[in-house]
Amino acid sequence: MNQRPRRNRKSIGIREMVAETNLKVESLIYPLFIVDGKNMKIPINSMPNCFRWSLDLLIKEIEICGKLGIKNFVLFPAVEDSLKDKTATYSYSSANFYLKAINTIKNKFPEFTLMSDVAMDPYSSDGHDGLVIKGGIDNDQSLPILCKMALSQAEAGIDIIGPSDMMDGRIGAIREVLDDNNFKNTSIMSYTAKYASAFYGPFRDALDSAPKYGDKKTYQMDPRNKKESLIEAELDELEGADILMIKPALSYLDVIQTVKENTNLPVSAYNVSGEYAMVHAAAEKGWLDYDQTFIEVLTSIKRAGADIILTYFAKDFANLKH
Ligand code: PBG
Repeated sequence: MNQRPRRNRKSIGIREMVAETNLKVESLIYPLFIVDGKNMKIPINSMPNCFRWSLDLLIKEIEICGKLGIKNFVLFPAVEDSLKDKTATYSYSSANFYLKAINTIKNKFPEFTLMSDVAMDPYSSDGHDGLVIKGGIDNDQSLPILCKMALSQAEAGIDIIGPSDMMDGRIGAIREVLDDNNFKNTSIMSYTAKYASAFYGPFRDALDSAPKYGDKKTYQMDPRNKKESLIEAELDELEGADILMIKPALSYLDVIQTVKENTNLPVSAYNVSGEYAMVHAAAEKGWLDYDQTFIEVLTSIKRAGADIILTYFAKDFANLKH
C-alpha cells in the first residue's frame, strides 16, 4: 500500500494540521428575541436556553456574549397581538420597541454587528410575510411596506438589513430606498434561497408569528428545487445584495454548496430553530451527545460552503472554545 489515508489521522497534531474546515466564533451570528417591557426573560418551550428578552436584560446578555467572543447578532421582535394589523404599520412606527432597541444596543456596543429581520409576519394580523389581499399575497404592494420597515431599521442604526420575506424584487427596492436616503453603507444580507420548511416551527412559537391561515408556499421556495436557488442568487446579486443566505441549513447542504460555487459573494446559512430543537430533544433523551452533535452540525454547514452561520448554538460554541 503506497497510500494509507490513516497516516494523516494518526495524532491530534496531524489531524489539526490537515483539517480542511475551521469553525470560528467570528463567523457565527447569534439570533436573539426581544419583547417589550422590563425585567423579562421568558423561556421558549421548543427552544431550550433561548429566551424572549426585554431590552434591559438583553443588554446584559449581549455583554456576556461579547465576553465569550460573540460579536454578531440578529434580532427578532415578538410583538403583542394588539399591535398587529393587515399592513404591519407598527413595523415602521416611531413607537416600535424593536427599532428603539436596535438604537440603544448599537449605541452601547458600536463595535458589534447587528442584523435585522425584514418581513411582515411578526407585525401582521394575517401572520404572513407579505400583504394579504383577497386571500393571496400581493407581491408589489408588499414592497413599499418592506422598504419602510428597512429604512426605519437603517435609521435606528442597524448594520445589516435581513429581508426574510421572499417577495420578488425586494432587494432592489430596499437598496434603492437605502441609497436615496443616504444609507449607502447599510448592508443587505438577503434570504436568497429560503425554503417553505417545517423546521421553522419552534421559531414561530417564539414569536407567535405562525400564519393565521394557509402556508408560505407561494413565496418561500419548494424543497424539491435546487436550480431555482441559482435564479434567486443571480437576481439578488443584480439587485444589490452583499451576502446571500440559504435557509434552512442542514437539509439544504447541497444548495449551500451549489450557491457557493456559483457566486463571488459571501454565502451564509441559517441553522434554523427546528435544527436546534432536534439536537436538544435527542440529547435530553440521552440519545445523542449534545456538544459533539452540534459541533458536527456546524462543521458540516461550514464544509458545505457557508462563510457565515446564523445559529442558536453560537453561545454553546463560544462557551466550549472559551
Ligand atoms: C420570518 C422568519 C422566519 C424565520 C426567520 N425569519 C420564519 C418564517 O419564515 O416563518 C425562521 C428562523 C428559524 O426557524 O430559526 N420571516
